[in-house]
Amino acid sequence: MNISELFQENLQTIVPNTKLHAKFLNTLSYMEHIGSYKIITTQHSENINEMILKHAAEEARHGYYLKKLSHKILPNENPDYTPKHLLAPIHSKQYLNRLDISINRMLKKFNLSSNNKKFAAYLLVTYGIEQRADSLYPFYQKILEENQIKISVKSIISEEIGHLEEMNKSLEKFGNVAETWKIEAQNIENQLFIDWNQQMAHDLKSL
Ligand SMILES: [Fe+2]
Ligand SMILES: [Fe+2]
Repeated sequence: MNISELFQENLQTIVPNTKLHAKFLNTLSYMEHIGSYKIITTQHSENINEMILKHAAEEARHGYYLKKLSHKILPNENPDYTPKHLLAPIHSKQYLNRLDISINRMLKKFNLSSNNKKFAAYLLVTYGIEQRADSLYPFYQKILEENQIKISVKSIISEEIGHLEEMNKSLEKFGNVAETWKIEAQNIENQLFIDWNQQMAHDLKSL
């Protein structure tokens, strides 16, 4: 089974089950929230520009919006992000950190100034996530429609497309080498997404 099939199978188990679905939305909310927190904590120098501020604000909004959706389909559940309110809690918590560590490690092989390395790492971590977001959210939206569940993530989809475009544009400034970085970032992210889905499949089976 390839990764898209596994993700599809997971979603087909999760979405029709309100309790699991609310937990899934809470998990996505958590990952978005961590994304905005990470941007703020790594990009707080006086060099921060409008694109980064917008990006942090939009990821924070996604976190809030997905939490609201979680409460819309199941009020009074999942008040926080403690493990019992998340799917694949350890993997969900570690996903972004592991991505960040691996991308920073990969960039060490290149001769970059400390500021450039920090900025390139931010762009590539985001690139990896946005690549995923740009397939995950439209796919999830399709499953919502198939199950006639009246919530929508379309507003997130359009913002994530914008983020990916901005990352691609900013990475161009690093020249051709950025294409090699992008492939590596995508490979790293892909493995993390596989791990996350396998853990989720494992947890769903043992319910
Ligand atoms: Fe997001
Ligand atoms: Fe994003």
